Amino acid sequence: MSLKGQIDTTRLPQHIAIIMDGNGRWARRQGLRRIFGHRQGVEAVHRITETCTALGIRYLTLYAFSTENWNRPKEEVDALMTLLIDTVEKETPTLMKNNVRLATIGDTDRLPSAARSKFTNCIRQTEGNTGLTLILALSYSSRWELTEAVRKAVQQGVAPEAINEEYISGLLTTASYPDPDLLIRTSGELRISNFLLWQLAYAELYFTDTLWPDFGEEDLYAALIDYQKRERRFGKTSEQLSNTSNI
Ligand code: FPP
Repeated sequence: MSLKGQIDTTRLPQHIAIIMDGNGRWARRQGLRRIFGHRQGVEAVHRITETCTALGIRYLTLYAFSTENWNRPKEEVDALMTLLIDTVEKETPTLMKNNVRLATIGDTDRLPSAARSKFTNCIRQTEGNTGLTLILALSYSSRWELTEAVRKAVQQGVAPEAINEEYISGLLTTASYPDPDLLIRTSGELRISNFLLWQLAYAELYFTDTLWPDFGEEDLYAALIDYQKRERRFGKTSEQLSNTSNI
């Protein structure tokens, strides 16, 4: 049976998060400059967004640029910003056609003004779309987000006894989205890299050696099949989940 045929469409994750890694290695392996890997990475973003749309996934969060990525050589940062600007402009009609709503999380005030305005336009244009919500993490890191959350809590003068998990979740940039069910990281690295540390508390983690520019439909199906083999217990026992426990 094809990989797609093995997926139980009634038990898909509601929210998939992806650490898109390996663009630089992909380029170097072909004797190309790193930016060519990022350009090829955009093609993978396009493919996976379309596949998620076709499957009916509700939320897809992509780690496109981390807070730490500002420390890369200026030439690479500038090239990535130009790529983001060009991509958001070029892809907006496709997002509209596929009923995809674009959103961003992260310290987007740090982005160049041209990038900020392109993203603002695309977010406005797609805000009424009701299909997939595509969330791009831009100038994002979890420690930045949690630090901001603490700052907001202090500014709000919250009483200590009013602080609970719901209150903290509400202060995060992801407040209006459910937590990811599945995290995928490409390129063989086994790290979370400061990504959605709070939100991934109960996510299933899936690591693949495939480099992001090579990641395609079949790779996503393989991740979903693996996800569907897991038992998500959320701290409970298997018996509690199947409701047969006599303890
Ligand atoms: C990690 O690969 C990838 C990035 C830091 C950037 C990801 C950006 C894109 C895929 C393009 C723009 C995205 C959108 C949403 C339009 P790496 O450079 O760290 O690779 P390496 O570990 O092999 O060096």
